Amino acid sequence: MSTLRAERVTKAFGGVVAVKNASIDLEDGVVAGLIGPNGAGKSTFLSILSGFLRPDSGKVTLDKHDVSRIGPSHTARLGLVRTFQEAAPIAGLSVLDNVRVGMHTRFHNGPFSAILHLPSARHEETALRHQAQFLLAEVGLSNLADVNASRLTFGQLRFLEIARALAASPRLLLLDEPTAGLNATESQLLAELIGRIRQSSGLGLLLVDHNVPFLFDLCDRITVMNYGEIIAEGAPRHIEKDPAVHAAYLGTEESVELEVTVEA
Ligand SMILES: Nc1ncnc2c1ncn2[C@@H]1O[C@H](COP(=O)(O)OP(=O)(O)OP(=O)(O)O)[C@@H](O)[C@H]1O
Ligand SMILES: [Mg+2]
Repeated sequence: MSTLRAERVTKAFGGVVAVKNASIDLEDGVVAGLIGPNGAGKSTFLSILSGFLRPDSGKVTLDKHDVSRIGPSHTARLGLVRTFQEAAPIAGLSVLDNVRVGMHTRFHNGPFSAILHLPSARHEETALRHQAQFLLAEVGLSNLADVNASRLTFGQLRFLEIARALAASPRLLLLDEPTAGLNATESQLLAELIGRIRQSSGLGLLLVDHNVPFLFDLCDRITVMNYGEIIAEGAPRHIEKDPAVHAAYLGTEESVELEVTVEA
């Protein structure tokens, strides 16, 4: 069981307070969503949660570890992995090799074992290759395994990002705008994939997205940010009726239908 906890986290860039006194809990088996207008602080909060940014004040812990002290690579080895809003594959590598790179946190033999072709390293290489192929099948990219990653479409890159993240065997996975640039069919495939991941691995997910109906369908719990602050948290059916949420999104206190796709 892994638990990620942010307590009253604040982060400013110059005069802009991007995240203000934000707290959240995330654990295995829970699918949580984070929504908010452009510039609300969602990506900054994700960077703080995953150890890529240090908060100015407040604290983030992963189990008993202080995330801002140990940094992102150690955090990933402890099972907390995030994707970025801008999908950035390693352009010179094939799709399959991009996934294999994502496995480095689990690679036990050092580079010298591989260079010397020690049997243990060869055995591990074969196992990792099979695992990478399995993950590509899972995200629907098997037929593109040997293609250079720079040739993928935007939508395919999003699925590759997820395969790379899963390659690190996370317990907690933070996805920043996974549906950005996806068409309706791809978004549906992504929703099904997230459902399968959840069922098979029981990991915890935090999804940041502007596609509100997509999140409301998938998530057990929704957190809403506006101007860096968390303004609401609860089950989707409560959040969609919350006047503060409507005001943040649509500039009105009226209870209007939130069943809209707010474009990034
Ligand atoms: N590295 C940075 N330097 C300066 N300002 C930044 C930096 N990163 C974010 N900001 C500012 O912090 C605020 C929050 O940005 P952030 O990217 O976290 O918002 P967001 O909710 O993810 O927005 P979006 O929905 O557009 O992705 C914005 O005003 C942004 O301009
Ligand atoms: Mg963002």
